[in-house]
Amino acid sequence: MAPVQDSVETTSTEPQEKQEERPISSLLIVIAMQAEAVPLVNKFNLLEDEGSLFPKAVPWIRYHGTYKDLQINIVIPGKDKVFGVDSVGTVSAALVTYASVQALKPDIVINIGTAGGFKVKGASVGDVYLATDVAFHDRRIPIPVFDQYGVRSRPTISTPNLTKELGLKVGKLSTGDSLDMCSQDEELIKANETTIKDMEGAAVAYVTDLFSVPTIFVKAITDVVDGEKPTAEEFLENLSTVAQALEGAVIQVVDFINGKRLSDL
Ligand code: ADE
Repeated sequence: MAPVQDSVETTSTEPQEKQEERPISSLLIVIAMQAEAVPLVNKFNLLEDEGSLFPKAVPWIRYHGTYKDLQINIVIPGKDKVFGVDSVGTVSAALVTYASVQALKPDIVINIGTAGGFKVKGASVGDVYLATDVAFHDRRIPIPVFDQYGVRSRPTISTPNLTKELGLKVGKLSTGDSLDMCSQDEELIKANETTIKDMEGAAVAYVTDLFSVPTIFVKAITDVVDGEKPTAEEFLENLSTVAQALEGAVIQVVDFINGKRLSDL
């Protein structure tokens, strides 16, 4: 195989059928929180982009490099310019995904991060999930068809071999801009048979769907949404240990993808 070059110019505009016939060579990982990105940046030996992929005004950060046969880019939305915290949520996730997909034209996108899990659907703290579907739970538009547009429930790409080989749990992911859950969100989440709840997945999916870029979602459970503990407290308590579980799973996912075609996943 030709060596993979670490350059934003290497990606092609070849038709999707052609891409499916060759091994995946470029991978874009979208992560909301810096603490979740740093261990992966170190593991894959990536460098921070000092250049101009993104406009100067934005806090977004790109790390890039080659790992095995893969050209890997990790992007994070960075710290909010006013409040100095990680720019979590759908707006930043969609924007940084849009700019990155446009510039890098990856073969595949992986959105990784932490999530709340529903014990009624079998989730526990520390579990790592691959999402089978993504939807929004806080876009209520009670007008025919707009209601479906708001929820935008979509299946993810099928990855039976990846799921089986890594023994990851699978479940439906639902996205909203709040860490907590109001009763209306809960109603929608239940109706959609959701297992995991995050703040970015469906926004990333919206963008990658626009560009027909295959996308997988790897989410590690920091808190049990239908449990006893307050969500924010449980999330903060478990963040660092669960981030390690997430890191381990993502390395396994990337190792599995290396050398494979989309159709092998
Ligand atoms: N990320 C981690 N826990 C979460 C939760 N309960 N809801 C949304 N995003 C999360």
